Amino acid sequence: MKSELKKLIGESGGTIPFIRFMEEALYHPQKGYYTKVAKRLGPGGDFVTAPELTSLFGELLCLQMIELWQLLGSPKKFQLVELGPGSGRLAHDILRTAQKFKDFYTAVSYELVEISDDFSQRQKQLLKKGKLHKKARWHKDFDGVANGGVVGVIFANEFLDALPVHLVEQSPHGLSEVGVKLNEDGEFTTEILPLAEKIGGDYFTSRGITLATGTRTEIGLPGQEWVKQAGAKLRQGMVLLIDYGHPQKDYYAAVRTNGTLAGHLKHVRVDDPLANPGEMDLTAHVDFTAILAAGREAGLDLVGYTTQAWFLMGLGILERLDILSKAGGADTGPLKEAVKRLIMPEGMGETFKVMVLGKGIEGQQLSGFRLNQQNDKL
Ligand SMILES: C[S@@+](CC[C@H](N)C(=O)[O-])C[C@H]1O[C@@H](n2cnc3c(N)ncnc32)[C@H](O)[C@@H]1O
Repeated sequence: MKSELKKLIGESGGTIPFIRFMEEALYHPQKGYYTKVAKRLGPGGDFVTAPELTSLFGELLCLQMIELWQLLGSPKKFQLVELGPGSGRLAHDILRTAQKFKDFYTAVSYELVEISDDFSQRQKQLLKKGKLHKKARWHKDFDGVANGGVVGVIFANEFLDALPVHLVEQSPHGLSEVGVKLNEDGEFTTEILPLAEKIGGDYFTSRGITLATGTRTEIGLPGQEWVKQAGAKLRQGMVLLIDYGHPQKDYYAAVRTNGTLAGHLKHVRVDDPLANPGEMDLTAHVDFTAILAAGREAGLDLVGYTTQAWFLMGLGILERLDILSKAGGADTGPLKEAVKRLIMPEGMGETFKVMVLGKGIEGQQLSGFRLNQQNDKL
């Protein structure tokens, strides 16, 4: 992957914007991190996600989807569209749970939008086990899902953080873009470039944010574009997003002078985003205030925003754990550990947020937000 990037830099006159570097490192057709072999998730990979920890996560999300389906009057067709389904574990757990509710299962169709062929193969294999694949269709990109057609749920867990970001720096003269070039030893290094026009020099000031001089941070325009697309595709229902992220004022707080961009390699955080291109995951946190603004532009309303811990507790994760523990039988130790990790602040409980944007569901209350709402933080 290094040689492909060096070639691209050479062909581009010696420098490329960081976002191009990230796009190539993650999505190069043959050598990108996500397009190559998919041994990325789980204990043997680079990171562990919530669906990989326990099937309770998918079960509870399914219950939230069923609740929405009922609120909409149990429509005969209800689409579940998952972006970036990874190993397929979440799809599997949602469909397995849905099977227990006959009318809902009859109404459901499941669409998996997955850029990586390798991940798609794994998803197909997993869903075939319970014949769940009969409910599923695959798309290589979001364009495969028809505009204005979805009645149901468009959702993603840890997808937005995988999309490329613009890296920017606040200089004494204003906002600049960070680019990547080669140093004398032929190694990747950064360089300051003029800001991409589509960002606009007033990106932060127009949002009431003042960045200290020297701050280097990210702007996730592709994530914002994606939410606009989701808004265009949804006819009625919700866009459900789960990811690590913050409201704008926390994301761009004075203490965070180095942004949130980081690599993940074999469960170790790598601070240098230019290291190991194609070999490590590269992610940035999600600016949920910007996601909401983009959603509103596309006709979506805010239904709720809270932490993953409150959302899962609203859906009854602790009661479910209690019942399973009392039922005895299998060792519930690992399940307890998984639940702890999902909801404790030092695990995924606080950093991970849940946002639901809706269309045609005004005034509806969802159980995931029954214990806590943090909409005013956005
Ligand atoms: C961090 S993984 C999360 C996997 C899964 N959602 C989970 O929670 O375990 C990101 C997933 O998004 C997929 N992906 C990344 N960019 C994508 C894109 N532009 N379109 C579709 N899928 C994408 C990756 O291949 C991978 O399946």
